[in-house]
Amino acid sequence: MALIELVYISPVCLAISSNFLYIMDIFAFIFFLGIVSSKIASSNANGNAGTFNVLEYGAIGDGYKDDTQAFLKAWNAACSTTNGTPKLVVPKKKTFLLIPAMFSGPCKAKKIDFMISGKIVAPSSPSVWKGRDASQWLGFSGVSGLNVYGSGTIDGQGKGWWDQSCRYHPDLQGCTKLAPTTLKFLSANDISLSNIDFTNSPQTHVLVMGCNRMSVQNVMIQSPGDSPNTDGIHIHASHNISVIQSKIESGDDCISIGDYISNLYISNIECGPGHGISIGSLGLGGNFVQVENIHVKNVSLKGTTNGARIKTYQVGKGYVRNVTFEDIKFDSVDNPIIIDQNYCGVRGTCKELPTGVHISDVTYKGLYGTSTTEVAINLNCSRSVSCTGISLESIKLTSAKAGKQATANCANARGKETGVLPGLCLRN
Ligand SMILES: *[C@@H]1O[C@H](CO)[C@@H](O)[C@H](O)[C@H]1NC(C)=O
Ligand SMILES: *[C@@H]1O[C@H](CO)[C@@H](O)[C@H](O)[C@H]1NC(C)=O
Ligand SMILES: *[C@@H]1O[C@H](CO)[C@@H](O)[C@H](O)[C@H]1NC(C)=O
Ligand SMILES: *[C@@H]1O[C@H](CO)[C@@H](O)[C@H](O)[C@H]1NC(C)=O
Repeated sequence: MALIELVYISPVCLAISSNFLYIMDIFAFIFFLGIVSSKIASSNANGNAGTFNVLEYGAIGDGYKDDTQAFLKAWNAACSTTNGTPKLVVPKKKTFLLIPAMFSGPCKAKKIDFMISGKIVAPSSPSVWKGRDASQWLGFSGVSGLNVYGSGTIDGQGKGWWDQSCRYHPDLQGCTKLAPTTLKFLSANDISLSNIDFTNSPQTHVLVMGCNRMSVQNVMIQSPGDSPNTDGIHIHASHNISVIQSKIESGDDCISIGDYISNLYISNIECGPGHGISIGSLGLGGNFVQVENIHVKNVSLKGTTNGARIKTYQVGKGYVRNVTFEDIKFDSVDNPIIIDQNYCGVRGTCKELPTGVHISDVTYKGLYGTSTTEVAINLNCSRSVSCTGISLESIKLTSAKAGKQATANCANARGKETGVLPGLCLRN
């Protein structure tokens, strides 16, 4: 609409003969432009022109009828809009059932909003995935400038998958190792995810892969502590990512950090139950690991199996460097501080190798709380590629069990330490 009005005004400008009138008209024209642009802005702000409500594309929202096609139609309409910031709306007070779906880009507009106020649920039976990719339920692929937000919930209805997982039911015929990730963000830049609640994912809740400049903020993730492989957030091959102000309860790592990562900032996180904040496992295939500049700050871990963990396979090469764990509180954590550079799928079955991922410049600062196992600090590095530049500073870890001592174990770990309870263990 704005374009048509502009086309009308230009002949008026051209028709002006007197210089004075011409200048006056330029003023009028600029004034008019101002009105038009503020009109565009307000139509987006109050959500009319650029709004794509899934109900208007045939979604029912009763929680039973499959609304996938309606979502994809609304997405295609929003994604092919060129003006302003198109916004797909999933309205509140409704429950939308979606089968596996990928929302693909690139979109025409520089930015696109996906506002989830209502609830989105997965099919409860894994049989729906027959003939489909079992690794995914919902995802965004190649959508740069994406903003996913709202007060809504995404429920993966994972129980059907957990009940047949090989991890917990190895003797079950047809047990499954791979189950869907609830929401994937793939191959895109400048993304944000905020305020959404995730629950009961069949496997990982949120996966970020191949993304640059993404912020995750104020999300809540909740799955039972005994649900198999339900990582909270898994990040892989991505750069300049922040995860802040979030609460994660899960059956696996709260946040797991994969390979090819740089500049990752994690802060103000509550984790537990779960397996803690984990870098790795890395180097499984013997590849050249590249993980650097990771800062984890102000995290509280409660009843988790690990706290601040780095684990690498001996067969791997490359590096994990410049990592800081700062201001972390442990409440009954099994392995509060742990580096396992001899990680092995099944303990004791890996032979000692001359290779390894070099772990260096790792700082632990201001970490305190309780350990349920005796070894509260366990820096178990390899003989051939030792850990270097480790710094332990202002650490106070005690046993969660009354009358028991906590200890520190370091093997092939070098660096400096000050103010460490349970005691010194690094080599210089
Ligand atoms: C990440 O951030 C750093 C520092 O701001 C910048 O130099 C680099 O280009 C960024 N990389 C990407 C892929 O955004
Ligand atoms: C630490 O994180 C918690 C949320 O987990 C937040 O409430 C608190 O304000 C944060 N503290 C600082 C000093 O930022
Ligand atoms: C280490 O990582 C931090 C971010 O966590 C970054 O600011 C700093 O520049 C990095 N240091 C080096 C030497 O790369
Ligand atoms: C260190 O790693 C080796 C090799 O995996 C293992 O045998 C040993 O038990 C570990 N030590 C501790 C204290 O965890």
